[in-house]
Parts: sequence; structure tokens; C-alpha cells
Amino acid sequence: MGASEKLAGVKGMNDLLPDQSPLWEWVEARVAKVFRQYGYRAIRTPILEPTALFVRGIGEVTDIVEKEMYTFTDALNGEQLTLRPENTAAVVRSAIEHNLLYDGPKRLWYVGPMFRHERPQRGRYRQFHQFGIEALGLPGPDIDAEQLLMIARLWQVLGLQGENAPRLEINSLGEKEERLAHRQALINHFEAHAAVLDADAQRRLHTNPLRILDSKNPAMRDVVASAPLLSDFLGQQSRAHFDAVCAVLDAHGVAYTVNPRLVRGLDYYNLTVFEWVTDKLGAQGTVCGGGRYDTLVEQMGGKPAPACGFAIGVERLVELLKEVAPPDVPSGLDVYLVHWGEGSQAVALQVAEQCRSAGLAVQMHCGEGSLKSQMKKADQSGAAYAILLGDDERAQGKASVKPLRAQTAATQELVPIGDLPIFLKEKCNA
Ligand code: HAM
Repeated sequence: MGASEKLAGVKGMNDLLPDQSPLWEWVEARVAKVFRQYGYRAIRTPILEPTALFVRGIGEVTDIVEKEMYTFTDALNGEQLTLRPENTAAVVRSAIEHNLLYDGPKRLWYVGPMFRHERPQRGRYRQFHQFGIEALGLPGPDIDAEQLLMIARLWQVLGLQGENAPRLEINSLGEKEERLAHRQALINHFEAHAAVLDADAQRRLHTNPLRILDSKNPAMRDVVASAPLLSDFLGQQSRAHFDAVCAVLDAHGVAYTVNPRLVRGLDYYNLTVFEWVTDKLGAQGTVCGGGRYDTLVEQMGGKPAPACGFAIGVERLVELLKEVAPPDVPSGLDVYLVHWGEGSQAVALQVAEQCRSAGLAVQMHCGEGSLKSQMKKADQSGAAYAILLGDDERAQGKASVKPLRAQTAATQELVPIGDLPIFLKEKCNA
């Protein structure tokens, strides 16, 4: 490639451009607020982790670990590193490393980029973002249920109501012994139909037969549909846990479907698993997925601690909002300051700083520009008001204030320059 040739970003990894960032910030602020309302505190872990963390955490025979991880050897010291494909394993690592559970359970949340080498399409990217929740150290069904209520509240807060809200699918994966008994029954079933299994299924038959249930191969639809259900292998305790979660959902009017085929793509889950799905986004309709993972902390070398969590795909959530309920997101700018004529610039700079000191967001026009072209920029900026500071007004110690947004249909007013911060502050808070 020539030195001056245009460079493009990595396929499947997107730039978030300024015209989209107000919507992302709007969503982020609301999600963070709801998480905090339920007592969750933020945790930030590195984007790079040792590869072994994800292999052990997510499971060797999963799509993520088998084919989707960005793994490389650090050329400087030979370490095997992986760009995080998800954050549950990393949060657990961090909690163990810093002994976070020493004084009791912890409710943690995060937001950030994840990386999976999947085939890019709408709603599926190689770098994507997740809002995530991990509650560590809490065994009861009450926390599973509370997380589901929190997610339902989140859809509401974001304006996703009725048929625009993702719908909840829920299942129980039981405990290990129950899954082992089911696993044996599955192996027996698939062995009895070995002729219709594709190469992937053949390979997974003895390593991870549960994953065969995820198969999208139409030739295997019947054999998958007739496979034994895990729910028939659940013991009394697992059933009671699941029933308790469902009872809370019923009591709070959260609609859900029990999907006995819901297995999730990561190996750490037990008991409650769930997904929130929309049919408004095409093939990639799972907006949120999660569940309980009671053995992961111990498996990663910590003292045994039950846990439950979920992650929401930010891109999918934002796309859903744009599709069905685009919010009216303010630009965040209160004032655009237009100025012209000898000496106006110095006054304009002072006015802008005084307005900022009063707490307003002010963009001052920089450089040359006719009044007309500056007013065009003011309109495009999304600001609620323009200050017009020209020679004539300035000679009287005044500037004009012009409302820019349709809903503020008031007319232009002349305001003493010294009063501008208070005048605009009142207008903008009104
Ligand atoms: P996950 O189901 O693999 O779970 O991902 C959660 C969400 O991330 C998905 O429902 C989807 O919205 C989004 N997502 C996943 N892959 C992509 C992609 N390639 N492009 C765009 N969005 C994507 C987890 O990651 C678990 N760590 C969730 C969890 C937390 N379980 C317990 N605690």
C-alpha cells in the first residue's frame, strides 16, 4: 500500500461518529442509573486477559473459544493473550484477585467493548459493546428475579413498551448431576440417529452434546426437536428455584415464555438462564442474555460463591431504539454564540466563559463567517438558543437572544450583556 493511500478500519469494528454519540450517551446514562438504583457498582477490567481465563471460564467446546477469540502471542514476552469476548470470566478473575467477596456479596456492573471474530452482519460485529451485571455471592432465586425486574424496568425507562419491548425467554439448566443424566440421554438419542448428524454434531456428540441442540442445520431439525428435555431431569431443588423466579415475575406482571430449548452459548451456566429477544432486528434479535453461574468462581480458583448476571448488547439495543422508539435526544448544547464586527470577538469570548461558569453548554463561533452562515451553523448545532452579538447591539451594551428550537416559539429578545448568563440559565432550566 502506498504511503498516501486511504486506510480503513478493521472489518466488523465500527466507529461511533458524533452524530450517533448523543444517543449512545443518552442510553448509557439511563442504563447506569437503573443499575445504580438496584445497588450495583461499576467495575472496569482490562480489555486484554490471559487466554487461559476464557478457555477455562467459557468452556473449551464452545463457539466463542473454538473459533471466535482474538488470541495472539505478545511479541515482547511470549504471553498468550486474548481480547475479551465477554466479561463475566474477567470480573470473576478480578473479584478473586482482589478478594472482593471477603465482606459479603457484591453487585457489579460494567460497560465496554468485547471482541468476537464472527461473520459481520446487522447486529453482529467483531467489536461490540455490552452493558453487564454480575451479582457475586448471592444464592437465592430472589436475585435472579430482581435482575429480570431490573431489565424489564430498563426497557420501560428507554421507552421500549408493549410489543416494542424485547420478550423474555427463560429456562432452568438444573445442576451438574441433572445435566449429566440428561447429557447421557442426549448421547443415547443422537447415537440412535447418527446417520442424520452433520460433521459439527458428530464432533460434539461426546464432547458437548448439549450444543447440538443449538444447530441451525434444517436436516437435523427433527432429531433436535425429538431430543429428551433437560426439564424432565430436574430434581426438586432445581425446580423449586425455577418456580420461585417465575413466581416473582408473575407477581410483578413481567411476561415470559419458558423455553425448554434455551441453552446459551457459554458453559458456565446452571439453574436459571434467560434471553430477551426482539423480532424487530432480523436474525440477530437477542438483545440480552444471562443467568446463574454458581460454580464459576470456584472453578476459577476462588472460594465457592454462587453468582448470577447478564449482558445487554449495546449496538442491538441502540438499533432497536432507532427502529421502534427513537428518543428525542437533546444535543447537549444550550447556546451557540454568533458574533461579528470589530471587537465583538473579545466580548463574545467573555460572555461564553461567563455562561459556562453559570453551568451552560456554549459553543462559540470560531473564525470568520457572515451572519447568515453563522446562523446556519447555529441551527445545525442543535443548541436551544443563539446569542447574536454584533457591533450595533454591543454599542448599547446588549446582545440578542434567539430561540432556535421549534417548541420554543418565542421571539428574539434584546438582553443586557451582563445579564446573559442568568437570563439564559433561567430559559434553559425552564
Ligand atoms: P452473550 O449471550 O454471549 O452473553 O452476549 C450477551 C449479549 O451481547 C447478546 O445477547 C448480544 O446482545 C450481544 N452480543 C453478543 N455477541 C455480539 C456480536 N458479535 N455483535 C453484537 N452484539 C453481540 C455473555 O456475554 C455473558 N457474559 C452474559 C452474562 C453475564 N452471563 C452472566 N453474566
